[in-house]
Amino acid sequence: LGGALALGGGGLGTYYAAARRDTAGKIDLDTPLRIPPLAEATAVASGALSFALGIQTGETQLKDGAPTRTWGINGTYLAPTIRARRGETVEIAVHNGLDRETSLHWHGMHLPAAMDGGPHQPVAAGETWTPRWTVDQPAATLWYHPHVHGATADHTYRGLTGLFIVDDEDTDALGLPTTYGVDDVPMIVQDRALDGDNQFVERLPLAGSLGVIGDEILVNGTLGPYLDVTTRLVRLRLLNASNARLYNFGFSDDRTFALIGTDGGLLAAPWETNRLYLSPGERAEIVVAFEPGETVDLRSYPSPDLGGASGRLDGFADRLDICRFRAADTLADETALPAALGEAPDLAGADVAAERSFVLSSDQINGRSMAMDRIDFGVREGTVEVWEVTNDNGYIHNFHVHDVQFQVLTVDDAAPPPHLSGWKDTVLLVQGSRYRLAMRFTDHTDPNVPYMYHCHLLQHEDDGMMGQFVVLAEGEQVGAVPAGHDHS
Ligand code: C2O
Ligand code: CU
Repeated sequence: LGGALALGGGGLGTYYAAARRDTAGKIDLDTPLRIPPLAEATAVASGALSFALGIQTGETQLKDGAPTRTWGINGTYLAPTIRARRGETVEIAVHNGLDRETSLHWHGMHLPAAMDGGPHQPVAAGETWTPRWTVDQPAATLWYHPHVHGATADHTYRGLTGLFIVDDEDTDALGLPTTYGVDDVPMIVQDRALDGDNQFVERLPLAGSLGVIGDEILVNGTLGPYLDVTTRLVRLRLLNASNARLYNFGFSDDRTFALIGTDGGLLAAPWETNRLYLSPGERAEIVVAFEPGETVDLRSYPSPDLGGASGRLDGFADRLDICRFRAADTLADETALPAALGEAPDLAGADVAAERSFVLSSDQINGRSMAMDRIDFGVREGTVEVWEVTNDNGYIHNFHVHDVQFQVLTVDDAAPPPHLSGWKDTVLLVQGSRYRLAMRFTDHTDPNVPYMYHCHLLQHEDDGMMGQFVVLAEGEQVGAVPAGHDHS
């Protein structure tokens, strides 16, 4: 796998970053990019693909000096990449090896609420939880992370994050780069603040209500990474896995790249750009073309649109170096970028069964904080709804909905920009902005087990900026969350 190092299998992580600050205060991009291993599946008798994920604590050598106390899944930091095809049934044994309750949520996945891994599916210390569902959505880059009540930010920050890649036949037929870790490269981008002893700092006074903003950037747990490129076209699966930081991705020579996919799958056609924002939880698949022998850096650039008083807190005040790409003198050239990719979202003209409005303010949605025992509303199976989401607050937020992928109809009454033209499950809302989102709810589940919608700046989610809904069959009523699990 190119210059990739393997993940540590327990105890001290075996990957080691020699990254350090150069004289200009920027990180040296001189450590081979780690590639998260692919999770191995065993077939169970019933025909499901079975995966085993063990949540554990450990120590990880992130930089020179002391190792960092971290959490990981089947390793000391981050998690294996799960891959499944549309139509396959997966069964995932999640063993909680921590000393406290946690959960694992499959972000972006359409699945029954009881399998969703949200705050109503906690896994107690020492227990194993085994959700099972059939993957039924287009090929996409999804991910997984804890979603335990009130502690999502903490548990995710310590290192419990992995990718879940969905494949399908339509996408296989396109001829895109698909060799994992070589020309189809996962990039889990996180910021971390490390103290003088190399331990994670979780709350910085400066970051105020956004939670933590760190100035060390990790990609797949690598500080100061580079990737040796061996093909002309490389597909990068970018995930903003930070708790609060936003990235405005671009390359050091301002080259353009093709955005081919967003949260829920491929766009209808590639879009050439030289900058791309991702807020926490959002994903993008991009294809970059390289010339033999060249070196170019992926960075995050200050954003002119998101500056002002909040510039520093947005993490946009400084240019950040993220990853260096070093192209070989000869590059294989066997993949293509087709002019047409996936199906465009089709909800713009649909019959709308209900419109709802969501106003985001300080730690609340529509003036209410998250309550485990309150289901905010029910939607009807088989219907399309339009949700209008407004950021009425002085801070940046974003908005994520479980179970569905949505179509952005408008942004402040205008047509969405090209990077919001495909299926999305998370959108950035800068101060004062208003989005109209259309979504179709296809399968009812238990009226007593809700899905979540929330801000994906994780401290905001934990502080209460979250609500709950259920998907109801015809004639069914909103249920009540079963008592017996006190999280308050
Ligand atoms: Cu990525 Cu409700 O979560
Ligand atoms: Cu928020």
